[in-house]
Amino acid sequence: MSRVLSVASGKGGVGKTTVVSNLGAILTETGKNVTLVDGNLTTANLSLHLGIPLYPVTLHDVLKDDAMMPEAMYVHPSGVRVVPSGLGIDDMEGTDSRNLPLAIEELLGETEMVLLDTPAGLDQETISTLEASDEMILVTHPNMPSVTDVLKTKNLAEDLGVDMLGVVINHHRGSRDELTEAEVSDMLDGLPILAKVPYDEKVPESIAMKKPVVHHDPYADASHAFRELASQVITEDIALDYGRRGILGRVKNFLRL
Ligand SMILES: Nc1ncnc2c1ncn2[C@@H]1O[C@H](COP(=O)(O)OP(=O)(O)OP(=O)(O)O)[C@@H](O)[C@H]1O
Ligand SMILES: [Mg+2]
Repeated sequence: MSRVLSVASGKGGVGKTTVVSNLGAILTETGKNVTLVDGNLTTANLSLHLGIPLYPVTLHDVLKDDAMMPEAMYVHPSGVRVVPSGLGIDDMEGTDSRNLPLAIEELLGETEMVLLDTPAGLDQETISTLEASDEMILVTHPNMPSVTDVLKTKNLAEDLGVDMLGVVINHHRGSRDELTEAEVSDMLDGLPILAKVPYDEKVPESIAMKKPVVHHDPYADASHAFRELASQVITEDIALDYGRRGILGRVKNFLRL
């Protein structure tokens, strides 16, 4: 049976799209049939992260009833299947986000897992992505405002019957003013921390190169964390353990940090 797994936050800019593109790349490499859907209709950017900004038919056309979902699905050169959203302001005209759950249903026979990128905030566009989801990963930075906002998304999603897989702490820098894993988990009613992704210059570098960081630099610390996340999501060891370079990297590998 297909899973519809959304990646959500409260605040914008915390790393949802980065999680979606990297998780999608890793799961595709492991042979899973995964489709990434850009549910961020107003400020779509999944296709920018993947380096193919212009598609003739997008999710917007499906939501306007001008196209069927399979027409808006593309295979990225990396093998990742993507349903992009349009990037222009005109794309929003006549688009009804409330059609999203039905559009996602069209994919269910076609794919093992839908990874759904979601917008920040809690308006109708976000609610539509939550209504389309079976399961959810929350993304937050390790600070109080970010976690406070993601708690609202969690509560709303749970009210809509979405299962919470857990939390990705992104932009971890190891500074003393950061919330610890235990504090983040406590604030979110004990949700498990699935991965702690370090702040890593390789991530913005990879987006500039229009690739997921796991492809741009499989040895980067962030890539290592994304592979940990992927193994949690599919509850399998990912056989793509590139390890990390250098003495510090090898020590971290050994300690599984
Ligand atoms: N682990 C990381 N280390 C360094 N930079 C990161 C990391 N994760 C994400 N970023 C940077 O943060 C920015 C925002 O990331 P991203 O677009 O994934 O966030 P988002 O939650 O999808 O944003 P939005 O709410 O606008 O859709 C990007 O420029 C990305 O390069
Ligand atoms: Mg995004």
